[in-house]
Amino acid sequence: MHSSPSYKTIAQVKSASSRSMSWLQERKQFVKALLSNPAAIGAVAPSGAALAAAITESIEPRGKVLELGCGTGVFTREMLRKGVAPSSLVLVEQDSEMSSSLRTQFPEAAVLQVSAQDLSRESHPELHGIDAAICGLPLRNMSGAHHHKLLTAVFEAMRPGGSMHFFTYGVRCPISPSVLEDCGLFARRVRFVPLNLPPASVYSLSRQP
Ligand SMILES: C[S@@+](CC[C@H](N)C(=O)[O-])C[C@H]1O[C@@H](n2cnc3c(N)ncnc32)[C@H](O)[C@@H]1O
Repeated sequence: MHSSPSYKTIAQVKSASSRSMSWLQERKQFVKALLSNPAAIGAVAPSGAALAAAITESIEPRGKVLELGCGTGVFTREMLRKGVAPSSLVLVEQDSEMSSSLRTQFPEAAVLQVSAQDLSRESHPELHGIDAAICGLPLRNMSGAHHHKLLTAVFEAMRPGGSMHFFTYGVRCPISPSVLEDCGLFARRVRFVPLNLPPASVYSLSRQP
């Protein structure tokens, strides 16, 4: 006869799968957001598995991670798959429907429905002590002033030695040398992911030594 802990596990598995989105639901949600605000989405489809693996490659399972521009949660799911605890995730997404879907999918994570450039340690104490950041924002569609505000807030909250990983479809780093210099950061292209629609490069941003 089964003991009650196994029944509990089955119930937990059922409840997790009822929270997750189907492939079709994810595409529908993405297209709806794309049609209502194309510049804020800045992509034709959610990122693919190869890009999700590349951008989360150096994330330590035990760390606290900030994710910016989560969309349908492609990178979030990959971090959970790698063993990051859902309660160690701080998810930032400005779109209301996507934020509410993230709350449903990841009830233990902190979901902040806010524009990433308006983040600050003072108004968002959840940022305190982050070990790493993943960024899915359409950085090429954002101004240099917004890059500056965003990177200042992220690196003020980040522990020493932490990095932010982001991707771009462009051929060069979307953050200008002057913003990097002003924020005391350097950028390094760490991966090219041809098997994504469209192909993308992953960059890592760290404090200057
Ligand atoms: C290209 S989609 C990426 C989604 C997901 N990370 C992926 O790779 O499939 C960009 C996401 O960033 C969100 N976003 C755009 N500008 C934002 C901002 N200023 N602050 C917070 N979220 C933003 C959009 O709503 C969208 O969900």
